[in-house]
Amino acid sequence: MEFSTQTTASLHQIKTAALAVGVFTDGILSAAADIIDRASNGAVREALKSEFHAKAGTHLVLRNLPGISAARVILIGLGQHDRYNAATHANAEFTFAHYCVQANLAEGVTALASIECADASVRNRAQAAAVAVGRATYHYDATFGKRDRNPAPRLKKFALSISRNQASHTQQGLKNGAAIAHGMHLTRELGDLPANICTPTYLGNTAKKLAKEFKSIKAEVLDRKQIEALKMGSFLSVARGSYEAPAFIIIKHVPASARASDKGRKAPIVLVGKGVTFDAGGISLKPAGNMDEMKYDMCGAASVLGTLRAVAELDLDQEVIGLIPTCENLPSGRANKPGDVVTSMSGQTIEILNTDAEGRLILCDALTYAERFKPAAVIDIATLTGACIVALGHVNSGLFSKNDVLAESLLAAGRDANDVAWRLPLEDAYQEQLHSNFADIANIGGPPAGSVTAACFLSRFTGNYPWAHLDIAGTAWRSGKEKGATGRPVPLLVQYLLNQA
Ligand code: BES
Ligand code: MN
Ligand code: ZN
Repeated sequence: MEFSTQTTASLHQIKTAALAVGVFTDGILSAAADIIDRASNGAVREALKSEFHAKAGTHLVLRNLPGISAARVILIGLGQHDRYNAATHANAEFTFAHYCVQANLAEGVTALASIECADASVRNRAQAAAVAVGRATYHYDATFGKRDRNPAPRLKKFALSISRNQASHTQQGLKNGAAIAHGMHLTRELGDLPANICTPTYLGNTAKKLAKEFKSIKAEVLDRKQIEALKMGSFLSVARGSYEAPAFIIIKHVPASARASDKGRKAPIVLVGKGVTFDAGGISLKPAGNMDEMKYDMCGAASVLGTLRAVAELDLDQEVIGLIPTCENLPSGRANKPGDVVTSMSGQTIEILNTDAEGRLILCDALTYAERFKPAAVIDIATLTGACIVALGHVNSGLFSKNDVLAESLLAAGRDANDVAWRLPLEDAYQEQLHSNFADIANIGGPPAGSVTAACFLSRFTGNYPWAHLDIAGTAWRSGKEKGATGRPVPLLVQYLLNQA
């Protein structure tokens, strides 16, 4: 995608296939819509009087307007003017980008990012526009036999119309947004790929490919023997149930400054991603309905890879380390059985009361491994609990942390990047639900507060650094007709890292 900027003054003279301008329900026109209205003898106000109500999420196509060089003007409804905010703007950009893709256009110009709103700077708005274009142009074709039935979008050029003094901020935002979009494309494709292709080995190869592509990235993939040598007994107990080889992926982004010298090197930020490439539940087998969707149980891992891709593209001045324990969770004659006790890398023993609570079993050893980096912060990302979908639905990711500063930075990053999270509790009072009569800790805490007790389990392995946990079971994936991976929470994570660097 080629992004560029244009100045708003001569909007009516811009030659393009489609030009988007925003209008509000209260009959208020954005500055750009007003320019088009005047140059076209009132065509915009006319449309608002008759057929277009400007509700958020709607659009109207006006072709061949007199006095206008663009082939089509797309009126984008923005809802009520006094309610206009960053989320409405991001959705509006998506409405337009999606229209361009559906209409099979090769280019478009949007004037939406020039509209002021209280909770997003022009840089954030430009970033949101680039991310929206990325969302609209994602194209999955890896596993279709007849690819011509599913042609790739033609959209190649996308310009933001802004005022002259906004140009440099806009370009910054577009650059960040494009990197986020590329990261999300990678994350979505990994999530969408079936589990017979996207195996632990495939995730390892993806990390190695990123290391070839970006000089700031180093990748190392440990095999079963090496994982055994590390004494990751909890992770290995899950992996043992499948013929598929497990892997422990270590992927690093080392910025130019740290490559040049070790002096004044800042502590790294570690991202830990759950990489269960298929979760059948193990001996505590899941019901058959919709079990196909459990191929997305590696979306934590995929978001770590997508985030590393984005920070490498931006050559962010912050060291970032991704850790990915990855395996399948299947029932077999060698699988974990309810009641089994395993020993984690930390030395703590775990009674496995439900083999379907496997995410925490593989993450805990990665969290112990993270200690060696003396990290500034560790954030794990996991499709960890169905209970998180019950609590927060598909809007917010669940955020857990005992560290208020870290939690606030992640929440703020989510708001800035239009990829929101909501904080849930993590008090010690919940810890007693994890009591076991036969081991240091049980791997489940009963039905009440299932997402909280899952986070409590992880917290037992994170005493030595600031830590936060993101439960993305509800946000990483869409079910139904639009079934597929969303690329979340790559925007939140990249925004957080941008804010730290
Ligand atoms: N991968 C699942 C969580 C999940 C469920 C993600 C639905 C996305 C959609 C996880 O491994 C799991 O099975 N969790 C169990 C935990 C329970 C056994 C305590 C769950 O949520 O049912
Ligand atoms: Mn499970
Ligand atoms: Zn799982």
